[in-house]
Amino acid sequence: MKPALILGIETSCDDTAVALVDTNGYVRGSLFAHQNKSHAPFGGVVPELASRCHTEELLPILDRLMMDTRTAWGEIAAIAVTSRPGLIGSLLVGVVAGKSLAMAKNKPLIGINHIEGHLLAPFLSDESYKAPSEFGFPYLGLAVSGGHTHLFLVEAAGSYKLLGQTRDDAAGEAYDKFAKLIGLGFPGGARVDKEAVIGNPKAYAFPRSLIKEDNLDFSFSGIKTAAQREIAGWDDAKLGAQRADLCASYQAAINEVLIAKLDRAAGQHPSVRSVTITGGVSANSDLRARAEAWAAKRTLTLALPPLRFCTDNAAMIARAGAFHFLGGKFSDQDLSPSAQSLPGDFQ
Ligand code: KG4
Ligand code: ZN
Repeated sequence: MKPALILGIETSCDDTAVALVDTNGYVRGSLFAHQNKSHAPFGGVVPELASRCHTEELLPILDRLMMDTRTAWGEIAAIAVTSRPGLIGSLLVGVVAGKSLAMAKNKPLIGINHIEGHLLAPFLSDESYKAPSEFGFPYLGLAVSGGHTHLFLVEAAGSYKLLGQTRDDAAGEAYDKFAKLIGLGFPGGARVDKEAVIGNPKAYAFPRSLIKEDNLDFSFSGIKTAAQREIAGWDDAKLGAQRADLCASYQAAINEVLIAKLDRAAGQHPSVRSVTITGGVSANSDLRARAEAWAAKRTLTLALPPLRFCTDNAAMIARAGAFHFLGGKFSDQDLSPSAQSLPGDFQ
């Protein structure tokens, strides 16, 4: 049977994104309009600004996607849109657009939880990516980004058991706050990663919070305070000279905890043989290297989707939408955005 084509819309935070993905997971097209330049002067995402940018960007990039991929509306089987969790004003722009298009073009509508999108990203494929053939349900999924650090047991599409999550800051937030602190700007995760390449990860002993605790929770608020204390009183010359070592040590502390908790989860679920790490922080090169070495040692199949599917994107939303479509799970026109996940989203 010919696969059906799903349109995905993602506006939950500061990236406006649209994509066309078929029910086999093949990405026909995926476009973004990043807002980093608009928010950078403020040192963080400004919610009102994000909503306004989405309003300006969404329909133009959708037109471009349809044109670039030569897609006619008649080919689209359903419209999937992120409806939760996220910034309420940002979500509202995508949800209203999705609902309007669904009504105008007479298409079924599917509201998607953004974290579900991240978790299903390994099922996306294009000319240069396909997950390892052994990768499949059930799997451990670590969604780690600026907004979340959530560890799940993904039993099947639509069945997600939350094993642990951060008690305070998300790992990406810890990266971003640290980057700002040492003068690398916003968003800083990728810049910390770059600086760290020539640094010594053992130069500074940053805390590995909860690493030994017998649970699958995380805590990343203490590490930023520790960094703040470490550099208190330093002048620019010292900071410049130590920046690479600071970055390498800081990222080692965060990444060690992420892998340690994955390892604990794998130990608790020995029959689970697949793992994925997704979300913006999964772009971190040290985390990727650690994850690969760890999975090889445990003989687990690791899916690390490319960055275009890991950082916020609409292909993962369309992919989740494709699973809902195949399962006959649709939303009504009364779909509304929610800043938080809904009670039935995860177990
Ligand atoms: O998934 P994402 O694009 O958006 C959210 O849902 O938050 O993740 C963005 C986060 C930011 O905190 C950013 O600093 C972090 O991912 N990030 C990184 C790297 N690239 C992006 N953190 C560490 N190393 C990187 N290479
Ligand atoms: Zn995200």
